Amino acid sequence: MACPLAPEPVYPRPDPHHNQFIRRLFKGLHSWLGLITDVDYRIPIGSVQFLGLNLFLVNQPQAVKRVMVDAVEQFPKHPYTLWVLEPLIGRAIFSVNGSEWERQRRMVDQAFQVAQLRRVLPQMQGAVAAMVERLDASLIAARPADSAGGVALEIDQAMTLVTADVIVRTILSRPLQQAEASGIFEAFARYQRRAGQVLILRLMRLPQRRLQAYLGRHAATIRRWIDGAIEERLRAAAVPASVPQDLLQALLEARDPQSGTGFARAELLDQVCFLFLAGHETSASALGMAAYLLSCYPEVQQRLRAEVQQLMGSRAGAPEGLSFDDLRQLPYAAAVFNETLRLYPPVSFFIREACREGDLVDRRCPLGSLVTISPWVVQRQEQQWPQPHGFRPERFLAESCSAEERQLARDVWIPYGMGPRKCPGAAFALQEALLVLAELVRRYELLPEPGQTPDLVARLTLRSRNGIRLRLRRLPEAEVAP
Ligand code: HEM
Repeated sequence: MACPLAPEPVYPRPDPHHNQFIRRLFKGLHSWLGLITDVDYRIPIGSVQFLGLNLFLVNQPQAVKRVMVDAVEQFPKHPYTLWVLEPLIGRAIFSVNGSEWERQRRMVDQAFQVAQLRRVLPQMQGAVAAMVERLDASLIAARPADSAGGVALEIDQAMTLVTADVIVRTILSRPLQQAEASGIFEAFARYQRRAGQVLILRLMRLPQRRLQAYLGRHAATIRRWIDGAIEERLRAAAVPASVPQDLLQALLEARDPQSGTGFARAELLDQVCFLFLAGHETSASALGMAAYLLSCYPEVQQRLRAEVQQLMGSRAGAPEGLSFDDLRQLPYAAAVFNETLRLYPPVSFFIREACREGDLVDRRCPLGSLVTISPWVVQRQEQQWPQPHGFRPERFLAESCSAEERQLARDVWIPYGMGPRKCPGAAFALQEALLVLAELVRRYELLPEPGQTPDLVARLTLRSRNGIRLRLRRLPEAEVAP
C-alpha cells in the first residue's frame, strides 16, 4: 500500500542520539518532539539528570501500566501540568490530584454517560451538516478552476472549525459563529505555542510567577468569551420549559454522591474552558491527520467509502443523518481513526511526579522525579509494533488482526491514556470522528496536494505548523445518495 507522497506517512525524524540535553531542550522549545532522539524509540526506559532534577521517559508496557494504573497514587499529575494550564482552565479536572480530582471526576463521568452521547448526537449532526455546507461553498466558489484534480483547501482549518462547533453545540446548545471563531482559534494557537515553550523554560528553572503571568494574558481572551457564552446559555434556559439537554445541563445537574455537592459557577467556568480545549483541539488534530492519511492512501479511502456506502444503502428511506446504532456498523472507519491516533496521538506526552521513592524497570526513581510517558514514542516502539511507522488500519480490525495485535491495542495503544485518569471523552470523540469521516468520504474524494507535507509540532496538542492542505473533489450525486 504505497503513499504517493512517501513510503511511510510523514513524521519528524528524530536526531541521532547525543548526550547534550541542553541542546535537546532548545529544540524542545519549538516542539516537544525535539527532545526525542532515535534511541528513545528502542529503549524500555530513558533517564537523565538536569539541574538536580531526575527526568524519566517510560516506554516499557509494564512500567507504563505501573505509573498509570497499578501505582497511580505514587505518580500523580506533575505540578507543571497544573501551572501551565491554570491561567486557562483554573483547577479543572485535568491537572489536579487527590480528593479534589476524585470529586470532579465522579461528576464529569455522570455528564459523559452513554445516554448523554445519544442525547448530543443531533447537535453533532448539525455541526457536521454545517461543515458539509462550508466545504460545498468553497468548492462552488472555486468552480471554474475545479477540474478532475479537485480544489485545494486547508483541511486542518475545516476540522478545527467543525470540532469547535461540535463542542459549542453540545455544551451550550448553539452553533459557533464564524465571526467569533477566528479570534478564539488565534488565542488558542498563541496559548499553545507559549505553553510549550514555558514548560521547557520552567525545566530550565525560570521563575514560575513570571511565566504564568505571561500565559495569563493569552488565556484571558478565551476565558472571557467562554464566560459570556455560559451566561447567555444560562439566561436562555431560565424558563424551565426551555431547558436544553446539553452537556452544560448535565454538568449543572451532576452531584457528587459522596458530598452531595455540585459544581459552583466558578468551577463550571473552569470545566467548560477545559472541555472546550480538550474537546476541540484533540479531535481537530486527529481528524486533520486522518483526512491527510486518506488523501495519501487511496485504497484505504476507497474501502472506507465502500463501508459507508453499504451502510447508507442498507438504510434507504431512513432519516438522512447516521443514527447512534448506525455508527456501530462502521468498524473500518473506527479502525482508520484508531490507527491515526496511534501514529499521531493528539496528546503526545503526559507528565507525572514520583511522590514516593521506588523502582522503574531496572532503575531507582527518586522522590520528586519527573516521569514522562509519551503515546507518540510508546505507539511507535520498534520492539512492540510491526512496521511501527506504517499506516495499517487493519491492526484495529477484529476480523483481520492477529491475537498479538489485539494485545498490543490493549497494552500499548494509549492515545486516551489508561487507568483512572483515562479520557472520559473517548466515546464522544469516536462518535464525532465517525460522523465527520463518513460524511467526508461519502461526498468527496480526498486527494493529496503535491509538495505539501505537514510539519508536525507537539505542544499541548500535536498540530501541523504549516497547516494541512489537500485537494477535495465532489463525488457525483449518484454516488452520494443513499
Ligand atoms: C481524539 C480526541 C481525544 C484524545 C486523543 C484525548 C486524550 C486525552 C488524554 C491523553 C487525557 C489525559 C490522560 C492522562 O493525562 O493520563 C485526556 C483527559 C481528559 N479528556 Fe480527553 N481526549 C480526546 C477528546 C476528548 C473530548 C472530546 C472530551 C470532552 C468533550 C475530553 C475530555 C477529557 C477530560 C474531562 C479529561 C480529564 C480526565 C481526568 O483527568 O480525569 N477529551 N484526554
